[in-house]
Amino acid sequence: MDRLLVKNIGVLATPEGRSAKGGKAQGEIRTLRNAWVRIEGGLITGLGSGEPEGTENARILDAGGRLATPGLVDAHTHLVFGGWRQNELALKLRGTPYLDILAQGGGILSTVRATRAASEKELEDKARLALDEMLAFGTTTCEAKSGYGLDKETELHQLRVIRALDGSHPIDLVPTFLGAHALSEEYKNDRQGYIRLLCGDIIPAIAAEGLASFCDVFCETGVFTAEESRTILEAGKAHGLLPKIHADEIDPIGGSRLAGEIGAVSAEHLIVCPPEGIAAMAAGGTAACLLPATSFYLGAAYAPAREMVSAGVPVALATDFNPGSCPCLNMQLVMSLGCLKYRLTPEEVLSAVTLNAAAAIKRAESVGSLEPGKLGDLVIWDGPDLNYICYRLGSNLAHTVIKKGVPYGKE
Ligand code: NIG
Ligand code: FE
Repeated sequence: MDRLLVKNIGVLATPEGRSAKGGKAQGEIRTLRNAWVRIEGGLITGLGSGEPEGTENARILDAGGRLATPGLVDAHTHLVFGGWRQNELALKLRGTPYLDILAQGGGILSTVRATRAASEKELEDKARLALDEMLAFGTTTCEAKSGYGLDKETELHQLRVIRALDGSHPIDLVPTFLGAHALSEEYKNDRQGYIRLLCGDIIPAIAAEGLASFCDVFCETGVFTAEESRTILEAGKAHGLLPKIHADEIDPIGGSRLAGEIGAVSAEHLIVCPPEGIAAMAAGGTAACLLPATSFYLGAAYAPAREMVSAGVPVALATDFNPGSCPCLNMQLVMSLGCLKYRLTPEEVLSAVTLNAAAAIKRAESVGSLEPGKLGDLVIWDGPDLNYICYRLGSNLAHTVIKKGVPYGKE
């Protein structure tokens, strides 16, 4: 069996466990000095400090005294889409609000037109380039949503592209159905008709093909109400798709409360999450998946992350990579913003982009920490410690990214 030994790690920093960490535990990180990790058949089979063990016939990778952490998990992306939306920059600079652009048939709906016009091959090639860049920045597992089709054919296309990329790209992909991302132009005067299409036709078809693990809804003013979101997420649940929800991004219309009530795996954005939403999430065991680069890009406020940590809600951080509100796939920038804007400590941030992010996509059994039995997914950083990684801004500090025991980048 192939065996990789990563040795001479200056500092190894990792959360521990197979479930999300809330409250004080979110900041508890195991640190080993002068460390090594052994990976066999893609899985971690040993790690420790000092003299490496079980090194016979191993390929050696010398980390040169650098920091090592688990591979980063990006728990919220809209990876597959046609076109870009650079034309919206000028609109934003003139002060046009995000929801106004959408209401005028732009925004998400313009990406829907470009996505419908693209072939599966074009969508796949484009998303593959994004994944290459994500891997180079340290992401080794990534959630990916549909939601730019808004019709059966294109939604299924997007999910099939995600499945194909999961099989052919080193990054592991976790698929989410987000047909409830907007009302399509055809259904803009028939909300109930679109919800019936989602619940009665598209969700069953996706479940039958095993194309998604999660069902997500954009619960927002002018998009889907909390009650409509409940209907869609319950239909998903009935077909084995676990609920996630875009909640309280622009207006607090009850998304976080709903998330807690229905036991959503995660609620996302939460920029304007009220205290009762935080309480409901704590009670429902819902993780908060926060997207600070989106706040930055929209010039919006930042989610009340410290209040969430205090309430025991596990906080994950993700990019929200998409062509409108956040054309950014750099998890390192997200980590820095997590410290600077949410006032999370570097240790809390590390849990947020590894173990808690893994838990937010139900992968904490296999990724999110460096422990025997988990996948051999690591980042060797161009830096000595975690503080340095969070403190530097805008550079790519990932030196070598290891996915299932295979190194990418500099060695
Ligand atoms: O998570 N908020 C809704 N959906 C995306 C944006 C999608 C877009 O603008 O294309 C988000 O920010
Ligand atoms: Fe999103």
